[in-house]
Amino acid sequence: MNAPARARAAFERAFARPPEVIGSAPGRVNLIGEHIDYCGGPVLPIAIDARCAACVGPPGEPGFLRVLAADSGEMLRVPADLSPESLALAAPAWRPYVLGTLAELHAEVRGIAPEGPDANHACDIAFAGDVPLGAGLSSSAALEVSVATACAACRRLSIEPVRLALLCQRAEHRYAGVPCGIMDQAASVFGRAGHAMRIACDRVQMGDASAISYVPAPDPASCALLVVNTGVRHALADGAYADRRAACETAARALGVRVLCDAPSGPQTDAAILAMPDTIRRAARHVLSERDRVDGFIRALAARDWPALGAIMLASHASLRDDYRVSCDELDAVVDAAREHPGVYGARLTGAGFGGSAVVLARRDAADNARAHIASRFAARFGRACTVTEVRASDGARASAPPNAG
Ligand code: GLA
Repeated sequence: MNAPARARAAFERAFARPPEVIGSAPGRVNLIGEHIDYCGGPVLPIAIDARCAACVGPPGEPGFLRVLAADSGEMLRVPADLSPESLALAAPAWRPYVLGTLAELHAEVRGIAPEGPDANHACDIAFAGDVPLGAGLSSSAALEVSVATACAACRRLSIEPVRLALLCQRAEHRYAGVPCGIMDQAASVFGRAGHAMRIACDRVQMGDASAISYVPAPDPASCALLVVNTGVRHALADGAYADRRAACETAARALGVRVLCDAPSGPQTDAAILAMPDTIRRAARHVLSERDRVDGFIRALAARDWPALGAIMLASHASLRDDYRVSCDELDAVVDAAREHPGVYGARLTGAGFGGSAVVLARRDAADNARAHIASRFAARFGRACTVTEVRASDGARASAPPNAG
């Protein structure tokens, strides 16, 4: 059973009636533009064919919000006013994402229409996910966006998609404690089958959805996009991500720009960067070089120049490893195993790093062989298996009445 089917079955079992709405939202794989969304840079993710699903119905128990995690069986039952105490608790692990999203959805609606619904979050929710947790594929954004999409549809709220992405990002900042950029939530909302999205994050962060444009994803007849999950679970709330972001903000201040990606290219910027302390200098060098790689990648994609795409991916990985220092042995080993295979164009870590997954661009006719090669190199080195899956560019969030309902 896929996530929507599991969420629905769990909802019906726990609450003894069908849900009113099923919402679902995808994870993402970022192709290029890593760790620059919070610096105002452009990024190029695809939404993937692994989704999180949330089923929602009106409250079965008036005055209470009940949330069931279909995959673990954990159930949360809290008073529907979502008090600050209830929002501050961190268990179960998904609580801040779900409750934080509901709180931000409410705040958003109040902001737009102060006379709108009051702070009554009473409803029943069951959710399930097919995006692996901690794999760098943005399971948290998929959860936030699926919950927000389903609850907004169930309460007949009409919220612009870009506002929905932004409110989910705020939930992550305020309740999960991760100062993330807008890439993951925007990719989950705006994904389009067969396409990658160029997201100009500075403008999208300000609510401008026209700053998202679509380019055809690498053609599946010619190439395969493989995701290699190292199984090293990354945890972003532990501070390493926030440290990187703070280093970029320091660099931006030193260069006199609002966000680091606004810094002009040229000898003056280069000289100013050279004068920065080591950690800040490396951060700035990664961010500005990665910014410049994004549009080169898009040009190569339009020209179907797969070897050029691969070379840009490898350069991105080297920069993330050596300058930004967000890789780890397992990710480096996957990228090294990938690059030594003749059927592979390139590979890089995707998402925040510190573990998680690498994305590999392989020739279609060599993909199976490349996959086996990477898996066997990984197993020989680490004594355990990694997971290799092929992903395809997929559609973003949607909500509908459950099929065959009523
Ligand atoms: C995480 C964050 C994103 C982005 C990536 C790195 O996925 O949620 O906002 O910063 O890391 O590119």
